[in-house]
Amino acid sequence: MKIIVIGKSGQLAWELSQLSTKENEILCLGRNEINIVSKHAILTTLKKHQTDVIINASAYTAVDQAESDKDNAYNINTTAVQNLAEACQELSLHLVHISTDFVFDGQKGSPYLPNDNIDPLGVYGASKAKGEQAITNIIPNNSCIIRTSWVYSTHGNNFVKTMLKLMASKPELGIISDQIGSPTYAKYLAKVCISAAINKVIGIHHWTDAGVASWYDFAVAIQELAIEKGLLEKPIVIKPIRTQEYPTPAERPSYSVLDKTSCSEAFPELPLIHWRTQLNNMMDNL
Ligand SMILES: NC(=O)c1ccc[n+]([C@@H]2O[C@H](COP(=O)([O-])OP(=O)(O)OC[C@H]3O[C@@H](n4cnc5c(N)ncnc54)[C@H](OP(=O)(O)O)[C@@H]3O)[C@@H](O)[C@H]2O)c1
Repeated sequence: MKIIVIGKSGQLAWELSQLSTKENEILCLGRNEINIVSKHAILTTLKKHQTDVIINASAYTAVDQAESDKDNAYNINTTAVQNLAEACQELSLHLVHISTDFVFDGQKGSPYLPNDNIDPLGVYGASKAKGEQAITNIIPNNSCIIRTSWVYSTHGNNFVKTMLKLMASKPELGIISDQIGSPTYAKYLAKVCISAAINKVIGIHHWTDAGVASWYDFAVAIQELAIEKGLLEKPIVIKPIRTQEYPTPAERPSYSVLDKTSCSEAFPELPLIHWRTQLNNMMDNL
């Protein structure tokens, strides 16, 4: 089987590229190889490759920048996704697409189910929500949307790597303790995407690592494990702070834990693993 991944240098795209095997060849197409803003270009490129499944790992992911760069965010997260869905419809391809916890407003107070109402707070979430809607309108029976959250990898920029840098250079950090979610190691998320592609899973599913955390909890765990592994020499002071003490251009959901119940049926071979275990695995791979 040949699986085409849209995206190449991103965290998830890179983890997907590492899973290529003889049986399941994975070909990642970066922005220089496919212009996802043009449906014509997508069709021309996809026709060159013998495949029947696409994983879209590309997105405009700069959450704060999206607030002042609305057109680009919508181009990549909505228009390009609609183009991909239309191309998949025309070529009879199955589409696996990745979305986000930021489609929710964070007010529910208990884990979000895949069919809960969406109500994004910012441009990034709204543009991703519109992308989801395009897929479910165009190819509801030939698509799988996997919503995830707080993604990190050894590759690319993310919270874990930023924390390690800051912890090595600052005496003290204030980290937000009133936003609750679930971290997700992209290496395992990539396996979920491959399973969705191979088995042509359909519908909306939620996937994150198991357990919940605040950004503060996550930072404390990063420091503990980094010291244990010799990645940091000594601990620094980490203080819990409230969201209003760290204003950002984009508002974020205060609670965005995703209910993953549907995954035990959709991906029975991939059990949920606690985020702290996954963080430990990622740090071993750093
Ligand atoms: N990061 C998170 O915390 C998080 C949380 C929830 C959901 N998600 C979702 O998970 C998925 C993967 O995220 P990620 O963390 O791997 O993202 P990432 O590291 O920011 O990578 C973004 C990817 O999108 C591609 N891309 C960006 N702009 C493009 C453009 N103009 N034209 C073509 N390609 C473009 C990049 O292409 P190149 O390879 O060519 O550079 C790259 O492969 C996304 O759908 C994201 O919305 C992420």
